[in-house]
Amino acid sequence: MRVGVLTGGGDCPGLNAVIRAVVRKGVQEYGYEFTGFRDGWRGPLEGDTVRLDIPAVRGILPRGGTILGSSRTNPLQAENGIRRVKENLAGLGVDSLVVIGGEDTLGVATRLSDEYGVPCVGVPKTIDNDLSATDYTFGFDTAVGIATEAIDRLHTTAESHMRVLVVEVMGRHAGWIALHSGLAGGANVILIPEQRFDIERVCDWVTSRFKASYAPIVVVAEGATPRDGEMILKDGTLDSFGHVRLSGVGEWLAKEIEKRTGKEARTTVLGHVQRGGTPSAFDRWLATRFGLHAIEAVRDGDFGTMVALRGTDIVRVPMREATARLKTVDPELYAEVGVFFG
Ligand code: F6P
Repeated sequence: MRVGVLTGGGDCPGLNAVIRAVVRKGVQEYGYEFTGFRDGWRGPLEGDTVRLDIPAVRGILPRGGTILGSSRTNPLQAENGIRRVKENLAGLGVDSLVVIGGEDTLGVATRLSDEYGVPCVGVPKTIDNDLSATDYTFGFDTAVGIATEAIDRLHTTAESHMRVLVVEVMGRHAGWIALHSGLAGGANVILIPEQRFDIERVCDWVTSRFKASYAPIVVVAEGATPRDGEMILKDGTLDSFGHVRLSGVGEWLAKEIEKRTGKEARTTVLGHVQRGGTPSAFDRWLATRFGLHAIEAVRDGDFGTMVALRGTDIVRVPMREATARLKTVDPELYAEVGVFFG
């Protein structure tokens, strides 16, 4: 049996831990051989491979990124994409695939597996934690840890200058990182894409915090949008698409807060710092367990499934469940945490 492995979409701390677990268990327990595919679906599409055996996965557990490389190539959108993938897999003697990815990458795996007979097992990955059918994705804990540390640090500089500090974190469609890091870091305002915010309410809260001699921290997910405007572009102008497609909400907020409250405000955009570097212990634990269960699913011939965390158990779910819709922050949870507090 020869198993192909690929990592697609944005990279994420813990990818290497999954690859290592899949290969070690596959080789040592089942006697499988492996083919690594370079740069997500581009690998099978172009037949671009990398050696993947026990020596290749030695020492990679604490390393961020992915030794296989990643891309957002979609073979369903390439000319003769499905035929090329199938021919390359057959030519390389690859019987099945372990696909590690987010919504787009697993969406391709779902269709290839369910509709075109390419046997795939999925492993959910995203720092955004917005994949359905699993309680958590690996990478999320690391990203939340990095954002929380940044918020902790920003408190002291905000207090020293008595200014507002706006922290923009990742999350185009879901506010999980903003919610968790904002709560852990004691932010005063948390703004998420799931609920439009009222800039006047934000400013009122900021003003009330200053009255209590407190320098407020505002955590905003990159996809958050104001109630009255539609879309914030980089230059601070508003558009009417209903989606934030360019970064800039953090900068826009700081400018608006300054203008409306007369208080000095600064913005920190954390960006890809949240995705880089070594995974947390929790993410190594989760990613390793996902990898061990994924290769077990391959052995069982349980294709079209994805491994998922439910409580403390790893289970298998139909992959299409994970990609059918995004897992967003429930309004009740948002209300429970308190949008404005502190
Ligand atoms: O992995 C998801 C994500 O981190 C989003 O939160 C973010 O908007 C996006 O990736 C940015 O990815 P890239 O810069 O690779 O296009």
